[in-house]
Amino acid sequence: MEDFEIVGKSYDKTIELGAKGIDPYKDLPEWIKADPDYPAFERARNDGGDSGSDDPRIKAFLNPSAGERFVDLGCSLNLMLRGYDAWPSEYHGVDVSAKTIELLKGFVAKNNLTVGALINGSLHETPFEADYFDIGACVGSLEYFKKDFVEKALSEFNRILKPSGRFVLDIPNITSPMRRFMNILEEYQGRPDKFDISPDEFEAMLRPFFSFERVDYDGVAMIQYYLTKKEMKKEPNKYKELEPYLESGLIGVLQKAQGLYGWLSEDLLAHVAEKTGQSRAKVYGVATFYAQFRLKPMGRRHILLCQGTACHVNGSAEIEEAVREELGVSEGETTADGIFSYNNVACLGCCSLSPAMMIDGKAYGSLTPGKAKAIIREIRKEETV
Ligand code: FES
Repeated sequence: MEDFEIVGKSYDKTIELGAKGIDPYKDLPEWIKADPDYPAFERARNDGGDSGSDDPRIKAFLNPSAGERFVDLGCSLNLMLRGYDAWPSEYHGVDVSAKTIELLKGFVAKNNLTVGALINGSLHETPFEADYFDIGACVGSLEYFKKDFVEKALSEFNRILKPSGRFVLDIPNITSPMRRFMNILEEYQGRPDKFDISPDEFEAMLRPFFSFERVDYDGVAMIQYYLTKKEMKKEPNKYKELEPYLESGLIGVLQKAQGLYGWLSEDLLAHVAEKTGQSRAKVYGVATFYAQFRLKPMGRRHILLCQGTACHVNGSAEIEEAVREELGVSEGETTADGIFSYNNVACLGCCSLSPAMMIDGKAYGSLTPGKAKAIIREIRKEETV
């Protein structure tokens, strides 16, 4: 079962308890209330310092107004219980719990409310168009998911929000001492926290897409972020030659990209992620896993050093040592001045010249360590005048 399905089932249970008048955060067993961190948690809840959806700061920041579309991702029962039905903006809700959505639909019908979509689904893949919402929130939901999912969710929030749109979300502060108690509590509710991203790392994930302010809720080890979507300048598609190959599977796309542009820059990997709908972490993971992919640019001159049988017998190992020494880099790397890249290869097809190397298609044979170094020095001189 996917993480979001587990969370959905757990919230279904919470809704059933709520219908019987049981508040699962209040009616806790004695062994949890006896925990030394319980009083701090209780204080935070009573003082409104629990980063909940009814925090007045959320409404003040989003400043909902008539004609604006609001999306509540992981909406829980905010529309019913936290006054969101009185907001002048148009309400849209997405929740993993089918029972929550059922209950909200009943509430809307009974009170004759006008709302937008109420969807039972996951917040990392919504059916909304790009740039559709003016404002949005995702409070009390991201803690149940790991980095891979959170990354997809952030990219989804960014996609569906208009430029300059406002958004509030919260995450657990995994570096806070209160996290231990909060984990016990969530575990007891049947939806253990899975969040594995430090605040620093999370902010690095936000930065390309949003400007933000942060508020810490120490009593419950949560952090709220008030986000504004950055205006991205629409640049002309720098990689339009790659367009016809985007359906060829991730490895195929990366091979083609490297073939077209020589190497895989961070910008190119981000472009591949966006265009193929894969997370950046996955694309970067594949590019770094396979030795065939180059994550640094090639040098202007490319040395291929033969390691075939004839060259090996005639001393290619000493030639390799001399080449490494002269270049100051290892096999597969590029020199700091950007002049040389160097790779070992099997037979170059000129065995009578062994040991041999090839530089940009020109073969150099009967090498000695000194001769190999002299050839490289000569080319470097040509390249630096
Ligand atoms: S083995 Fe080196 S060129 Fe053939």
